[in-house]
Amino acid sequence: MSDIKSVRQVLQAADNVLVVTGAGVSAESGIPTFRGDGGYWRGHKAEELASPRGFQENPRLVWDWYLERRRLVAEAKPNEAHVALAEWSKRRSGTNLVTQNVDGLHARAGHEEVVEIHGSLWKNHCRSCGYRHTAEERHYPVLPSCPVCQNLLGPGVVWFGEKIGFDAIHRTNLAFCEARAILVVGTSGLVSPIADFLHRERRRFPQTPVIEVNPGESAVPSTLRLTGTAAELLPQILSP
Ligand code: OAD
Repeated sequence: MSDIKSVRQVLQAADNVLVVTGAGVSAESGIPTFRGDGGYWRGHKAEELASPRGFQENPRLVWDWYLERRRLVAEAKPNEAHVALAEWSKRRSGTNLVTQNVDGLHARAGHEEVVEIHGSLWKNHCRSCGYRHTAEERHYPVLPSCPVCQNLLGPGVVWFGEKIGFDAIHRTNLAFCEARAILVVGTSGLVSPIADFLHRERRRFPQTPVIEVNPGESAVPSTLRLTGTAAELLPQILSP
């Protein structure tokens, strides 16, 4: 196991650091991860609910899942990990943050530039005409329809089987190209495109350190690993 001191040294020596976060960074805010305990909702796997097919088959069920998550996230607060990352990014130049999370907690902690590669829980999206808008509703007695084409609106998150938006992919690609060190926090490393970006980076730039913070096992191809939680470790790694 790598120690905190050497991780701090690696980050300080890098001109540019890319931080990649997943569900684990929000776990200590009370938001359940996808694949750990509590990774099922009413007996359904995330992959079944977060898909165009799941929505087609049962839009009410899928919306209820997302509305419950909106309510949960609205009541949650950013934790010490979100705050440590936000403060660190303001203090030093040359940082990028790409999150797979849709909860908006990095922004609520004051993080200024966040690439939300899987979209946002706080947007609605019409898969028929492409219309999107910010949405804060936590209950839909009647499911919302698109003001442009009248088809059913879905949540503004990227589902399994859907393409990531061009802007998010472009910004992620750029962030990987610029990175001289990568800090990966709280992701199982199993889901594309982040899993692919990480493996491609290891192959193409084997000298770039990939530091991982995770209390459990993962598929992240890390070169340095700290076993522990995000809220416990990030304040120690990123403090001035
Ligand atoms: P997962 O649920 O797959 O993995 C969460 C990771 O966080 C696991 O490796 C845990 O060990 C770790 N973890 C748990 N508690 C932690 C803590 N307190 N601090 C740090 N790490 C902790 O979540 P993701 O990898 O983010 O996509 O999942 C990726 C994508 O799969 C999600 O964005 C979502 C999901 O289906 C879509 O909805 C499209």
